[in-house]
Amino acid sequence: MTEFSRRVEQVSISGIREVFEAAGEDAINLGLGQPDFPTPDHARRAAIEAIQAGNADAYTSNKGTRELREAIADKHARDNDMSVDPENVIATSGGSEALHIALEAHVDADQEVIFPDPGFVSYDALTHLAGGTPKPVPLRDDLTLDPATVEEAITDDTAAFIVNSPANPTGAVQSPDDMRAFARIADEHDVLCLSDEVYEHIVFEGEHRSPAEFDDGGNVVVVNACSKSYSMTGWRLGWVTGASDRIERMLRVHQYAQACASAPAQFAAEAALSGPQDVVEEMRAAFEQRRDVLLDGLEDIGLECPTPEGAFYAMPKVPDGFVDECIERGVVVVPGEAFGAQGAGYARISYPVDVETLKEALSIMDEALAAVQ
Ligand SMILES: Cc1ncc(COP(=O)(O)O)c(C=O)c1O
Repeated sequence: MTEFSRRVEQVSISGIREVFEAAGEDAINLGLGQPDFPTPDHARRAAIEAIQAGNADAYTSNKGTRELREAIADKHARDNDMSVDPENVIATSGGSEALHIALEAHVDADQEVIFPDPGFVSYDALTHLAGGTPKPVPLRDDLTLDPATVEEAITDDTAAFIVNSPANPTGAVQSPDDMRAFARIADEHDVLCLSDEVYEHIVFEGEHRSPAEFDDGGNVVVVNACSKSYSMTGWRLGWVTGASDRIERMLRVHQYAQACASAPAQFAAEAALSGPQDVVEEMRAAFEQRRDVLLDGLEDIGLECPTPEGAFYAMPKVPDGFVDECIERGVVVVPGEAFGAQGAGYARISYPVDVETLKEALSIMDEALAAVQ
């Protein structure tokens, strides 16, 4: 009989997928983690032109084209006030691959990785695939991650902790003080702080700061992507940046697992990062308006929800049976436990849909709530 690795047997297909499969074809999908905007035209055109000119047929350098890595370095200077050497950037197949190579390069068998619970589904799965042991930690009442909780969870076996702000699935945004504390903790305990910043531009209150801005010891690795900022989830283009020894180790994984990110996507990403940025603000403003509609609606139907300050997710507290009732009535929301044990009693609502659809979904949620109360 075929035997599979213990690592892969510890991972299952994401709970989110199961919810989609349970829903009918006409369902309103508030389960998807992607913006409902087109990729900017100038990004699409850059890829088309590169393909037509024959510039996208071959492997690029393993780290990605020099031009793309320069655009990424310029982005960090512009948005994060950080000086990044293009040599210390690896373009990856989305933020997903960036997380994967970071954990593969830093986590030994049975070492621990600390991450938020509820948190993005990949953190637990990728820790297992790297042979490590997941250490999910609970959040504050406002659904942010307390640096003190992370510090208390660190042991001699800790390889890394993951910070994700703005966060999936909560929409929570960490304060600059928290980010400074995460950088200090990484330094003092000599563990990796892996900062997942794929939602950095989608902030409604507060501000996005990277722990890398406060990092003196080279212990912060940043993961980012064009996926959410430029509505480019299908292009599969992300990156990691960090200290050169860490980049060199991550490159070893990337080189053998991926060789290089897709060349057409690299041209599109370079154009998105270095072209006009208005689309980023347009999407942010649209998400803020929808967030407000959703929060008002949830309050009206009597669901308590910490105010999400960023991303495009909200996590109200919901009674038992609510998620099933929503799905049966044709609104897909994801049960909080898909994101970790502490997510039980919550549901994740993903709101990159137009306001009219959101209002329709809210009235169906009202009926679903009445059915379980
Ligand atoms: C927090 C977080 N990190 C990383 C990713 C991966 O993004 P990508 O589509 O770039 O692989 C996602 C996607 O949903 C996410 O929510």
